[in-house]
Amino acid sequence: MNLRNARVDGFFRKYVPSTASLSYNPIFKLVGYVNDSVMKLLVPEFRSLPPNHLRVRVGVGNKLFNNHAHCLLSGFNFWIDLFSNGRCALDSSIVELGCGYGRKAAHLKNYSIQGDEFTGSYLGIDVDDELLEYAKNAFTDGSKFTFQKSPHSSRTYGSRDMADLVEGVTCRIECHDDSQDLVYSTSLFTHLLEEELKNYVEESYRVLKPGAVMQMNVFVYEFLHRSGNLGSRFKFKHRKGNAYIESLDFPEAAVAYSSIFLESLCAEIGFSDVELRVDDVYGEALQSFLICTK
Ligand SMILES: C[S@@+](CC[C@H](N)C(=O)[O-])C[C@H]1O[C@@H](n2cnc3c(N)ncnc32)[C@H](O)[C@@H]1O
Repeated sequence: MNLRNARVDGFFRKYVPSTASLSYNPIFKLVGYVNDSVMKLLVPEFRSLPPNHLRVRVGVGNKLFNNHAHCLLSGFNFWIDLFSNGRCALDSSIVELGCGYGRKAAHLKNYSIQGDEFTGSYLGIDVDDELLEYAKNAFTDGSKFTFQKSPHSSRTYGSRDMADLVEGVTCRIECHDDSQDLVYSTSLFTHLLEEELKNYVEESYRVLKPGAVMQMNVFVYEFLHRSGNLGSRFKFKHRKGNAYIESLDFPEAAVAYSSIFLESLCAEIGFSDVELRVDDVYGEALQSFLICTK
């Protein structure tokens, strides 16, 4: 991201701390629906996508409209990276935390080359009922693809009703101990406060087979600082426990942690190899990969 864009982005984020929160607004939904109807009429490939507000909710790099191509392509590099590094295979058992509408899982569902298909299992977990409802209807093969509602609360995602917000609720992944080949998330740990993050690291450790990998995208505070990405789009000037947060009103809008916190938490929970790697898959070096082996 160049500095000029980062400044514009920083200014935009000051007034809209989370584009996800915009996606719950009825006027925004309506405008997106009208725009979407035209685009889906013109381009048949776009018809497999959910409505615009759901695409915006899971992140479209500030492309509030006409983000169809972005959503269809999102995830290709991600899977190539996972398969080429041997972190999963076509018959793997996979858990995705913060699965959204199944944008990443769609590539597994659609994979078909010379008779080879995905034969493993995929469990997607999310807090947002509307996203989960869409995913359940889009992934009809219940023998391979299942979805689970997380009871976590968030002021940025899901119900967001202050009355429903309960802190300290934990999520148990609906899988047996030592049963999964991969647990991953993309852009979830960047929205989690400490308790929920710790809960998911513990649960990932529990369900993974020995030797299997957990891979999560994270914001690492000092990496952002070192790469000059702190101060324009992200400032992370507030603290909540070990979390560096962007907005006090929407604490989950963007959350960063120090590398020492992330590394020591994963090691304490039991992971053997713990690695933090700058994620340049998107060419922005904003997020990093937290990759841990059980
Ligand atoms: C930035 S979106 C990314 C979605 C998806 N990973 C993708 O790339 O399309 C973050 C997702 O995490 C979900 N989420 C937020 N807090 C969560 C929590 N505590 N547990 C599970 N999912 C959560 C949101 O509802 C949203 O779908």
